[in-house]
Amino acid sequence: MEPDIELRNKKIERYYRLHSSIYDWTRWSFLFGREELLNRIPELPPNPRILEIGCGTGTNLTNLEYLFPDALIYGMDLSGDMIRQARTKVDKSRQITLVNGAYGDNKFNFEPFNLILLSYSLSMLGSQAEQIMKQVHRDLTSDGYVAVVDFSDTRFSWFQRWMKLNHVAIDGQLTSLLNRLFIPRLTQHKKAYLGLWRYLLFIGRRRPSADI
Ligand SMILES: C[S@@+](CC[C@H](N)C(=O)[O-])C[C@H]1O[C@@H](n2cnc3c(N)ncnc32)[C@H](O)[C@@H]1O
Repeated sequence: MEPDIELRNKKIERYYRLHSSIYDWTRWSFLFGREELLNRIPELPPNPRILEIGCGTGTNLTNLEYLFPDALIYGMDLSGDMIRQARTKVDKSRQITLVNGAYGDNKFNFEPFNLILLSYSLSMLGSQAEQIMKQVHRDLTSDGYVAVVDFSDTRFSWFQRWMKLNHVAIDGQLTSLLNRLFIPRLTQHKKAYLGLWRYLLFIGRRRPSADI
């Protein structure tokens, strides 16, 4: 792994050492659109393979368990503290695999997934975002979907700076990156707090490799 990416991941890991224990009490007030995105995922083939990259404390994993009762679900996060929180939540009787590691560091060789979800993790990937989305493209089945909910843009530079301190890029770049690799099925920008920022809901089908 490149040294600057390793350093970034270490900073994120350290950040969540404290935040993992207060995460669920605090994040409901600004991580909007998570449930809505999951409710808009199209029908998947039987026994679909689903991965959430940056699954955090597992909020989406428990909703995915409910929405796709026959799915094989994977949650991956670079923070061991977040994975520990997720482990307390997921249904022990289901086949949910939790992986503690950084997606994109080539250590993991997954079978292709029918759906890959990134919920407020893409904006944390910084300069790695494009490389990671290309990896997502490779890790999907040819008819697979990506689903993304994340901070999109803001008119306020002070807010952008504040989010950067929290390891989040809110720079309006996500939609064009996603459109290059996936055929959009849902693209929606929604206002949060009367327009302090907008967040993005995106669902797209994998573009054929020859087209990108
Ligand atoms: C804002 S949290 C979102 C958690 C969860 N998806 C949710 O919606 O509540 C972002 C998560 O992404 C994880 N993360 C950041 N970069 C990652 C990477 N390269 N691989 C795996 N997880 C990553 C962080 O550790 C953190 O738990």
